[in-house]
Amino acid sequence: DKAGRRHFMEKEIHEQPESVARTLSQYISAVDEGFTFPAGELGLKNADRLIAVACGTAFYAGATAKYWFERYARLAVEVDIASEFRYRQPALPQNGAALFVSQSGETADTLAALRHCKENGVRTIGVVNVPESSIAREADVHLRTLAGPEIGVASTKAYTAQLSALACIALAAGASRGVMTAEETADKVRHLLEIPRLINEVMQVEPKIEELARALTRHKDVLYLGRGQFFPLAMEGALKLKEIAYIHAEGYAAGELKHGPIALIEEGTPVIVTAPWDELFEKTISNVQEVAARGADVTLITDAKGAGLAGDGYNVVVMPTCDPIAQPIVAAIPLQLLAYHTAVFMGTDVDQPRNLAKSVTVE
Ligand code: M6R
Repeated sequence: DKAGRRHFMEKEIHEQPESVARTLSQYISAVDEGFTFPAGELGLKNADRLIAVACGTAFYAGATAKYWFERYARLAVEVDIASEFRYRQPALPQNGAALFVSQSGETADTLAALRHCKENGVRTIGVVNVPESSIAREADVHLRTLAGPEIGVASTKAYTAQLSALACIALAAGASRGVMTAEETADKVRHLLEIPRLINEVMQVEPKIEELARALTRHKDVLYLGRGQFFPLAMEGALKLKEIAYIHAEGYAAGELKHGPIALIEEGTPVIVTAPWDELFEKTISNVQEVAARGADVTLITDAKGAGLAGDGYNVVVMPTCDPIAQPIVAAIPLQLLAYHTAVFMGTDVDQPRNLAKSVTVE
């Protein structure tokens, strides 16, 4: 049932205020705004290292969480693509844990990586959407995302649910490690609880995004840029566009631009930059100026403060102002909408893109 929408993906994008709220309510007590899940069981209190392993969009969720674990829990995190991790001889944490992020819980490489860690005595944590799946059953600790069934092959509501769960886990780890005070933790929790409302608000950019999407259909290559916690989001935005609109896209760390990819920029090259205001904003904007000076057609996804500081000459998409922990979750929505509307204009099979399966159960 598409609930009156053209595609499951469209329905799932618009469901995110509820799916994020549902997921957060799994982790946060409505009564005292504290964490309700067994944070102690995660083994992160005294851990010296966490490895996060996943594929595709789930990998980008893990890559975003790395910023949170480092910042809020002072915990060293390595993120790995499951198909690489399992065939290396990775040095496993002696005093740490391994986190596996998966919507389906059946991704063959992620499951193999989990089994490898278990066999070697590493504590395993699964952040999984399908509760009866193999990863959910086999992980030592199963932390659920409550996105509900996701039908579209492109992950949207599963992704924001993963980010929501991971934000809670990182903050709880920070609290248990004494990095965050009770007051700081409570403040962050309040900001997390605002995310469903902020997602509702950011949906208002849809008509503007649709216009930008129409223009993207004329292009063969799109560059997505981000810095800090928006770097993994740039890769996620690019993946969405590739998989459903069949347009080549690359996500890059904004600071890496001058180490190669800036050579690609010519008159009219679309560059999508996600940069709500934060302490890295000025740095990102200087990269934006560099591509704009070479003729790039820049779309800047930012908030009111960023829009005020950015200067003219860009397509600006204004998202609501939010706390840093909420920014990458809220900013994911314009990128999902951009890929979705571009795919609709291209006339692709949005929910069942060519060559792809919802769950990759072969290696
Ligand atoms: O079920 P999983 O979360 O383990 O799946 C991982 C990837 O296959 C998945 O995220 C894929 O990249 C999506 N099609 C992206 O939209």
